[in-house]
Amino acid sequence: MSDGSHTAVLSEQAVDGLNVRGDGVYVDCTFGRGGHSRLILARLGKAGRLVALDRDAEAVAAGGTIDDGRFRMVHGRFGRVGELAGGAGVTQADGILLDLGVSSPQLDDPARGFSFRFDAPLDMRMDTSGGITAADWLARATQSEIREVIRTYGEERFAKQIAAAIIAARARGPLRTTRQLAALVAEAVPAREPHQDPATRTFQALRIFVNQELEELSLALPQCVELLRPAGRLVAISFHSLEDRIVKRFLREAARPDHLPARLPVRARDIPGPRLRLVGRAVRPDPAEIAANPRARSAMMRIAEKAA
Ligand SMILES: C[S@@+](CC[C@H](N)C(=O)[O-])C[C@H]1O[C@@H](n2cnc3c(N)ncnc32)[C@H](O)[C@@H]1O
Repeated sequence: MSDGSHTAVLSEQAVDGLNVRGDGVYVDCTFGRGGHSRLILARLGKAGRLVALDRDAEAVAAGGTIDDGRFRMVHGRFGRVGELAGGAGVTQADGILLDLGVSSPQLDDPARGFSFRFDAPLDMRMDTSGGITAADWLARATQSEIREVIRTYGEERFAKQIAAAIIAARARGPLRTTRQLAALVAEAVPAREPHQDPATRTFQALRIFVNQELEELSLALPQCVELLRPAGRLVAISFHSLEDRIVKRFLREAARPDHLPARLPVRARDIPGPRLRLVGRAVRPDPAEIAANPRARSAMMRIAEKAA
């Protein structure tokens, strides 16, 4: 059950990665309960500024309790980070943080419908002010759409059987709760993975789909590069391979010099250089952090710096 708190993952390493300058301007795209934001504020001097975003109204309310003139909390999606930061007066940032995925309060609040551990309406929206709930989508989607979502975003090898079971259940009556869904997935899956509830992958898939998490990430990354000042830092923490793949590919691509066809009459100094420089290797939490906070176990952090 939730006490409303969230333990920030890789907190010191992430804020070290931002290379916080006392008078710098920072954007925390995923405030959550503000673990990283508070650390950034602690390293900022009087002239520093921090703008935090979150699409979840409860996170925004938590941010509203921080009484600090250097801090501004904004409700919105990081897929619009350029526009939202601009609206808060930030057109250039010294560092931007993306700590992706869901927070512990979202997972642990039975009413949000993110978890198969509690019985609740199948909602799964991070921003409950708009968008479609998981239950409404499952009521309307075709069998092949359901199969594709579960296969792609859950990397679930039994997606076909689960989609068929959902369609069959739907014909008997509406599928409205987390328990109903978890039970029918458990029945549909012919083999279980050790130490994992059979519904884990299906719930992850629906959550990613309902919140368009991968699209949001793909929209945010180029805007972050645009927003960064030269030598500004981007720190991204992901929690599953689909997210990390997007971050890794984007950073790699942005860190490559542009390739022009050979034998063109272009001087080397006129060829645009890379937009980013990769800083170190990907970082994972150490065993002590994972032991203290099991939700850290799949975290992967990547850091890049805007080219001068
Ligand atoms: C892992 S938590 C962040 C925890 C935070 N770093 C802390 O220390 O408390 C992720 C947060 O990002 C928010 N979030 C996820 N996707 C988002 C998006 N596209 N735009 C804005 N916020 C998003 C979630 O609502 C959640 O509160």
